[in-house]
Amino acid sequence: MAKEIENVDYGLEKIFAGAQDFLPLLGTDYVEFYVGNAKQAAHFYKTTFGFQSHAYRGLETGSTDSVSYVLTQDKIKLILTTPLNSKSPINDHIVKHGDGVKVVALWVEDARSAHEETTKRGAKSYMDPIVEKDEFGEVVRAGIYTYGETVHMFVERKNYKGTFLPGFEKWESDYNPEPVGLKYIDHMVGNVGWNEMDIWVKWYEDVMGFENFLSFDDKEIHTDYSALMSKVMSNGNGRIKFPINEPAEGKKKSQIEEYLDFYEGPGVQHIAVATNDIISTITEMRSRGIEFLSTPPDAYYNAVPQRLMDHNHELKEDIENLKALGIMIDADEEGYLLQIFTKPLEDRPTLFFEIIQRMGARGFGAGNFKALFESIEREQAKRGTL
Ligand code: FE2
Repeated sequence: MAKEIENVDYGLEKIFAGAQDFLPLLGTDYVEFYVGNAKQAAHFYKTTFGFQSHAYRGLETGSTDSVSYVLTQDKIKLILTTPLNSKSPINDHIVKHGDGVKVVALWVEDARSAHEETTKRGAKSYMDPIVEKDEFGEVVRAGIYTYGETVHMFVERKNYKGTFLPGFEKWESDYNPEPVGLKYIDHMVGNVGWNEMDIWVKWYEDVMGFENFLSFDDKEIHTDYSALMSKVMSNGNGRIKFPINEPAEGKKKSQIEEYLDFYEGPGVQHIAVATNDIISTITEMRSRGIEFLSTPPDAYYNAVPQRLMDHNHELKEDIENLKALGIMIDADEEGYLLQIFTKPLEDRPTLFFEIIQRMGARGFGAGNFKALFESIEREQAKRGTL
């Protein structure tokens, strides 16, 4: 597995050279969840993840069909949206999928151009460009469908100075738990159906101008029981990274298949958020009640020093601290990374979060996949879905 990664050329010049520039992306703008009860979900993400109250839209601001809470932490913006009556199409999404990610919004210079360039290359439109205005200026947004019912929204906000978007008010709250040190979205992973990974890889190449810069097959990502395949897509400047997973045949049910069964289709599997100090972030999140996948066995931690030495890196953190918190370590030529995964945050075993601290490495923790999947399989066995 490590060998495969070593062979990869991570050079950004290469990514730049190969990727198309018809869709320049400045970064992730926001991630919108459709949930059954946004008020309670907002409280959960504030309390446990340390998100800050940012903006609000609801009955009090003149929105009669849905309510949205916007939460921020450093560069991360989450929106939690709930319908206010049975006729809203948001209900259909929740009935089918449960709580989950509807919109992965991308920050662009020109939303009209982004919509035109992607739809003419085959994207299915979700929303033609609209201009929303208030006293702080205007925002242009347009959207396209990606896998399943998930949407990429293009957001052009260069002529806007308001809190979030027109229609939203600043959200002042008396309840403001401290941030836990989450900085930005590192990558977001999609699960697609059997034999659909390459279809979506080609879609991101053709429609979005992305490049496939890392691949893992089922010979690499497997345990004794189950397997998956994964390809990582990146945009030209490397700011947006979307790994795409599909299930693979094993003796028992792949975790991707479990997700597809419970989400009832393709969707966002996990959101990886970066921190500069994973030990303090995870200490804080654990004390606030977040449950993480079980800590790998001693044998895993015993092998870490050698894995780092193989790549000439020295661990700056105390390995006992990492072990006590269940944080995993992976290394490649350029450095190492520290990562940990929450259990699913919904009752359906679907979306979860990853917390990641990069110490030079640009991979995704492939060296941890086996330990990680064994931990997931223990959870699947408890759920009776392995
Ligand atoms: Fe990840």
